[in-house]
Amino acid sequence: MDKRTTLVIGASGGIASAVINRVISQPDSDVVAVSRSTVGNTASNTRQLHWLVSDNTETSITSTVNTIKEKGGEIDKIIITNGVLHNATVKPEKRLEDISAEQLQDYYQINTIIPMLWLRHLLLNLTISNTCSIAVLSARIGSIEDNQIGGWYGYRSSKAALNMLLKTLAIEWQRRYPGVSFLSFHPGTTDTALSAPFQANVAKEKLFTPEFVAEQLLTIMKQANDTTNIQFLDWAGKEVPW
Ligand SMILES: NC(=O)c1ccc[n+]([C@@H]2O[C@H](COP(=O)([O-])OP(=O)(O)OC[C@H]3O[C@@H](n4cnc5c(N)ncnc54)[C@H](OP(=O)(O)O)[C@@H]3O)[C@@H](O)[C@H]2O)c1
Repeated sequence: MDKRTTLVIGASGGIASAVINRVISQPDSDVVAVSRSTVGNTASNTRQLHWLVSDNTETSITSTVNTIKEKGGEIDKIIITNGVLHNATVKPEKRLEDISAEQLQDYYQINTIIPMLWLRHLLLNLTISNTCSIAVLSARIGSIEDNQIGGWYGYRSSKAALNMLLKTLAIEWQRRYPGVSFLSFHPGTTDTALSAPFQANVAKEKLFTPEFVAEQLLTIMKQANDTTNIQFLDWAGKEVPW
């Protein structure tokens, strides 16, 4: 790996795939991609792309981080995209009656705990550049102040908890490694599998392509190196209230 390595966790998703394709379109950049899937990206395992498989258990995270470490080199961007809104067993709760322990646990596990476990193992074990830029895909819906319409209890609260964990980590990390910057990123409604069932009422101009969002994210991450703490920003680079 050369010096400009970007690490993408949750690499097979719509936004992650666009980010990876954008980064490897630059000749001087490479990507280490981590996914549950072996087949998430048709360009996998080229000279610029190292595709690793992990099931996101702590054992697997530890061994994947060791594999990344053995490759050597310095990481200068980390992008964590794992998130679920709906799947075979989970769907957003409209009202109190829809709440279940199992569903809340699934949301917290995937949207909150997995990203934080990755950060724990990556930051403590890898050689991270002094000016590393770290972005985690959050969502505006996780803003407590912005919550005007309610609903989607599990997804909303899992992203709010993610934001609090990130802010807490950024405060600790500022003391230990002041050049590292953190970004909690709201991509806007993006045309991926995650938003597909909920796009009917979204105006065409407000439904972004993953390519547009990837470009915005990477541009914002470049600028974020000037800050030493954490920002909660949307796709336009505008602050979202915590
Ligand atoms: N699309 C939107 O409109 C929108 C809006 C606001 C926020 N976001 C956030 O943006 C992020 C990326 O979303 P996307 O639109 O690209 O969605 P996506 O295409 O569905 O990708 C979701 C990602 O989450 C990971 N994931 C899904 N289920 C998982 C599970 N059970 N365990 C561990 N990882 C799991 C997948 O990683 P693997 O590669 O490991 O399978 C995948 O990369 C998410 O955090 C989402 O909450 C999206």
